[in-house]
Amino acid sequence: MEKKDRITGSYRAYRNGRKAIPLCALREFGPPHFCNKLEFIAGLNEGNGMDRIMIHGGKPLAGEVHISGSKNSTLPILAATLMTSEPCMVHHVPDLSDVRFMLDILKYLGAEVSQLDKNTLRIHAREVKDVAPYDLVRKMRASVCLLGPLIARLKRCKVSVPGGCVIGPRPIDLHIKGLNSLGTNITLEEGCVVSNSGELQGTTLSLGGRHGSTVLGTDNVMMAATLARGTTVIEHAACEPEVIDLANFLNSMGARITGHGTSTIQVEGVDRLNGAEYRIIPDRIEAGTFLVAGAITQGDVMVKNVIPQHLQAILRLLENTGFAVESGNDSVRICCNGTTQAQDFATSPYPGFPTDMQAQVMTLMCVTPGMSVVTERVFPDRFMHVAELQRMGAQIEMETATAVVKGVDHLSAAPVMASDLRASAALIIAGLVARGDTEVRRVYHIDRGYEHIDEKLRTLGARIERIHES
Ligand code: EPZ
Repeated sequence: MEKKDRITGSYRAYRNGRKAIPLCALREFGPPHFCNKLEFIAGLNEGNGMDRIMIHGGKPLAGEVHISGSKNSTLPILAATLMTSEPCMVHHVPDLSDVRFMLDILKYLGAEVSQLDKNTLRIHAREVKDVAPYDLVRKMRASVCLLGPLIARLKRCKVSVPGGCVIGPRPIDLHIKGLNSLGTNITLEEGCVVSNSGELQGTTLSLGGRHGSTVLGTDNVMMAATLARGTTVIEHAACEPEVIDLANFLNSMGARITGHGTSTIQVEGVDRLNGAEYRIIPDRIEAGTFLVAGAITQGDVMVKNVIPQHLQAILRLLENTGFAVESGNDSVRICCNGTTQAQDFATSPYPGFPTDMQAQVMTLMCVTPGMSVVTERVFPDRFMHVAELQRMGAQIEMETATAVVKGVDHLSAAPVMASDLRASAALIIAGLVARGDTEVRRVYHIDRGYEHIDEKLRTLGARIERIHES
């Protein structure tokens, strides 16, 4: 809500009745982040969006860090608990704002949610409502993965289409095409995905798109097909470890899914699902982020509680750059190994190089001798971090979906603005190596996907502090 301010005459934004930053003051945030400003005013942030993180750079990181459960596994698995009227117990759930957003939606839809300990949830969806409103869904794009569970269980739903995203266009045409192949008759009405179908019927369908397969699209179709009649074959399915994790959870509830982890998934429909107890896999992107933090500070870091297999593309690039990488059963250690050389890399669906690590590794290339051509093939516009890195002295030339990075001797500290989850991780990594004190603003983005990142970095020796703004 906006009211004309009697004093300045400029418009003031009010959130929850509390005075927020006057619109005119937003100009200080710098031009390219328009949509984030809107995001900020609309109170999409959780907790106090004014929290900042201060980092005094230049200290090599050293030691061990324990990796949390995967955000991108947790969100669809929590949604999948709606597919049974029996209770589910989910372990190794990361303490993140995105998880809390999903739990708010599950509670709104009628599920009983109990937090048994910091990382264990019990969810019991005896009854489920079929409408997920805009005000809840708009906070998190991943809420699109409610479609599959609601359509599977209720054969109907009205779920608001999540709004825009700073990392680029996020259409859901493949989700709709895949679900409609099962007979869901989806239409778009008043900004919502509306479906009202009879029995779902298994069939063969393809989820291949311009940028390869779709992760949450595969999840949605796999979940809907689980309670459909007959057999569904999903071609060009996503092979991400998080898709495998969801399929394993569904199979533990009584589903009959095979081929998960390959590009052809087969689902034998069943009549109903039972409750289950399940442990979420470790977060490969959080692990990759800490390995890059160790590398860029010329430190010696071990990430523990990881599945090294899930990190292969990241580890290969770090080794080619010149770092020593040692993998154990559930750990990976990185340290310096003499000279380093910048590497070109391009993002692609798993097992290719993950787009969710592009910003962090680009930051490493900013201070690595030589040229690096970074090509973003999954989200071609995902370069919001570039302007902020340039403000810290990075030499980056932008071309369509490609950044050409020339390694510099050092970065200089500056106040910088986080625009999205992985861009904020990149700015924190830049602050760890920059000369001086870097101030990262709007860290609510980082809290969406990293569990207590500042505390974990402090255990590795980083001089980092979170400043809470009341
Ligand atoms: C998942 O998003 C992840 N989110 C993203 O992580 C990740 O970047 C992405 O997969 C790719 O790995 C979660 O798991 C919650 P996609 P998703 O559908 O499923 C196009 C993070 O930082 N596309 O695989 O939404 C799309 O535009 C987040 O943790 C269509 O064209 O991504 C993109 O170019 C960010 N039509 C490409 O496919 C569709 O219907 C891949 O998107 C769907 C997607």
